[in-house]
Amino acid sequence: MESRLSGSLVALFISLLWLGQGGWSLDNGLARTPIMGWLHWERFLCNVNCQEDPHNCISEQLYMQMADVMAAEGWKDVGYNYVCIDDCWLAHTRDADHRLQPDPKRFPSGIKWLADYVHSKGLKLGIYQDVGTHTCAGYPGSYGYYELDAQTFADWGVDLLKFDGCNFINLDLLIEGYMNMSLALNQTGRDIAYSCEWPFYLWPFTKPNYTEIRKYCNHWRNHGDIDDSWGSVKNIIDWTALHQGLIAPIAGPGGWNDPDMLVIGNFGLSKDQQVTQMALWAIMAAPLLMSNDLRNIDPDAKALLQNRYIIAINQDPLGIQGRRVSQLFNFELWSRPLTGGGFAYAVLNRAEIGGPQKFSIIIFGLDDGKACQEECLVTQILPAFQFRGIHVLTSLLDFWVNPTGTVLFTVFPHSTDSSLKVGTLKGNKEQRSRL
Ligand code: GAL
Repeated sequence: MESRLSGSLVALFISLLWLGQGGWSLDNGLARTPIMGWLHWERFLCNVNCQEDPHNCISEQLYMQMADVMAAEGWKDVGYNYVCIDDCWLAHTRDADHRLQPDPKRFPSGIKWLADYVHSKGLKLGIYQDVGTHTCAGYPGSYGYYELDAQTFADWGVDLLKFDGCNFINLDLLIEGYMNMSLALNQTGRDIAYSCEWPFYLWPFTKPNYTEIRKYCNHWRNHGDIDDSWGSVKNIIDWTALHQGLIAPIAGPGGWNDPDMLVIGNFGLSKDQQVTQMALWAIMAAPLLMSNDLRNIDPDAKALLQNRYIIAINQDPLGIQGRRVSQLFNFELWSRPLTGGGFAYAVLNRAEIGGPQKFSIIIFGLDDGKACQEECLVTQILPAFQFRGIHVLTSLLDFWVNPTGTVLFTVFPHSTDSSLKVGTLKGNKEQRSRL
């Protein structure tokens, strides 16, 4: 009896040591940097009208075409590698063995076939389900079937699960359901990234336990859905700044806050607002899941989404989520530490009236000049690429920022050997000429 007790004390001690190492995260080895890809929801919603709108309805064709374009037009090369299905892919009933099945008319070849197709393009397939009795759009949910559904996804060759929280039975079962699905996915032995909306569904009732959420999810949504408007992007930026003390320290390799999809390339954001979304999503270490029509996208939006400098900031291996560090009149300054002792900064002009306005800052006002103890190199990345020279602590920098637009720049110690610093990333010539 005594030796059993001391055995369990040793086990407890070891697990405490493990937890004490900071940032215990879902141990599936995935999402060491924020996930990148494409997700259908914001742009294609629950369009199941394949008779009248075959080109845009939720069908296997849509994902095949998106995969074709992602492989052929540079998206995969810069890191967008998940093609993700959202709600409305299911048939209204499970099969005779209680397994999920896709709508037979819209997915006649089945999900395994679609996964094989997406894999043949060197990409991964994401799918959607819900912790409750039904998905948000009313299709069968996973409640009561977590293990069976996880195994079905693994059998089909799925690589990511977005797990929604509509129609849950009660809060305890919601939390338990998110945990159980995570464990069920791990038990299949297949690498399946796990995207949660757990904190979003908890917030109306209670403050979520983010340390716990990070143990089970690769990323997690905190607030309501994004839509194709500046108002929506603004709300998300504000929500994130307001809660940054709670949520930013939790993010890191393996687990990320998810401010929802990139809506760049659609209808609602001006060019400056698209620049702002891209810049801020990079600073926030957000998953970059585009929801747009890659088959027909404006060249400026494409160049912005494929900009390797911005992506390198987003994917920085340190994985530290940036924060809003000051607000001055209509300006906000956001900062994110990067590998190599550098920092990325976003200067957002919140004015919605007038023209470009000047934001001036002395280098020692940027994180106490940490990146510039001797000399530093300043590189502007957005809205247009520009080397801004070598500076010292007392240098004054001026940036002109359009209303609702953002200037994104980096400051690196001159001595650092960082590709972001010297601008040697592949393809930069083409990008510089585009921007
Ligand atoms: C919402 C979710 C959206 C989308 C939608 C599908 O709850 O936040 O991102 O998945 O359900 O019905």
